[in-house]
Parts: sequence; structure tokens; C-alpha cells
Amino acid sequence: MTVIAPSVLSADFAKLAMEAEEVRAAGAQWLHFDVMDGMFVPNISMGIPVLKSLRKATDMFLDVHLMIEKPLRYTRQFCAAGADLLCFHVESDTGENIAAAISLARELGKKTGVTLKPGTPLEALLPYIKDVDLVLVMTVEPGFGGQKFMTDQLDKVRRLREYINAQGLSCFIEVDGGIDENTAPLALEAGANVLVAGSAVFGKADRAAAIAALKAK
Ligand code: DX5
Ligand code: ZN
Repeated sequence: MTVIAPSVLSADFAKLAMEAEEVRAAGAQWLHFDVMDGMFVPNISMGIPVLKSLRKATDMFLDVHLMIEKPLRYTRQFCAAGADLLCFHVESDTGENIAAAISLARELGKKTGVTLKPGTPLEALLPYIKDVDLVLVMTVEPGFGGQKFMTDQLDKVRRLREYINAQGLSCFIEVDGGIDENTAPLALEAGANVLVAGSAVFGKADRAAAIAALKAK
């Protein structure tokens, strides 16, 4: 089954609850929530209070992508704010602290994920893979919505799919960045099963048609 996770980064923040309801009704199972601190990535988005409000407004699965330096500092707060899954960048702290953040989120009853920037080799996340529910392959440089899909990252998705299957693991493979009706089939063919899409969903007036188009091929 393919999970569609619209990224609220491209939603209208003044009516987040309505935006969430619209994509839920259109068949999206998850919401992708991008947290940026202006340090780990050159942009600032939203954080704990917005997540708290969104949690009250929807029962959708909240997939929180932490693009922040030293995420262990805020792991407890993001869990308390209502995240269902916290995804950590392997580049955002020492290996020891990333492992600690993963185990803290798990202790607090959350699902976990690890992710990497396009320039980071796949090997960097293998040490964590047995402890997480999801691996996210970034298909743009993190920081902004609306960028062009990086086709060269498909090889990472393919190698990850082979590795996960060979090891008998069951974690999700998520892709994020530049996913639209043309690139979604490429990512799925390479082995991804969770598609994040910001502009291709919230940038379109008809969200039901937009989600159907992602699932079409
Ligand atoms: C980028 C974010 C993405 C972003 C994707 O740093 O992680 O989740 O919202 O936006 P689109 O789908 O427009 O590329
Ligand atoms: Zn994201």
C-alpha cells in the first residue's frame, strides 16, 4: 500500500484544520510536518505550538520531519505536542545523540525515522535502521518546498529497498521533495512506499484530483 503524506509546509497556515480535513477526505493517510530552525537548513517554518494545534484539529498520522540542529534537545516536546512519528537527520548531531533521540521517542511511545540530505551516503543511516520504522530519502535539498526532484537519488531508494528486503526489515521508505504525478511513479518503482508531496497537493485547487493523480500510475 502506498501512503500519501501531504506536506503542510505548502498549506494555508491560517486554515490548517480545513486543509487537513480536505486531504484526509481525499484519501491521504498521513500529514507531513516540516520543522526548520534556520540553522540546520536556511529557512524557518513552524514548531511545537503549531503541531499542538494541528494535533487537536485532526486524528491523521502526524509525520514530523525535524530539520533542526541537535534534535535531542526538543524530542520530548515534539512527542508531547502530538507527533506520531519523529524523523531525525543523521547530519544534525553526533551518532550517539541521534541514537539517544530515537530511543527517547520510542520510550515515549512514538514511531521513529531517520533521514539524510542528498549529498550524504546511504551508509550513514544504516547504523540506525533496525531501530526505526521509517527511512526518508530526501529528493531535494531540505529547506524549501517547490524544488525540482533529484533523479539521482533514486539509486539510493533502490539500494535501500534491496537492503531492507535482504535484512527482512519492514520499515517504510519515504521520499520527500519534488514529488508530483510524473516523479511519484519513479519513486514507487524504485521501492518507496510513502510519498510526501507539498506543492503537488496543497498547491492545487482540487486536492482530491491532486492526490488521485499521485496514486494513478
Ligand atoms: C523540504 C521539505 C519538504 C517539502 C516538500 O525541505 O522537507 O517536505 O514540503 O515540498 P514539495 O513537495 O513542494 O517539493
Ligand atoms: Zn519534509
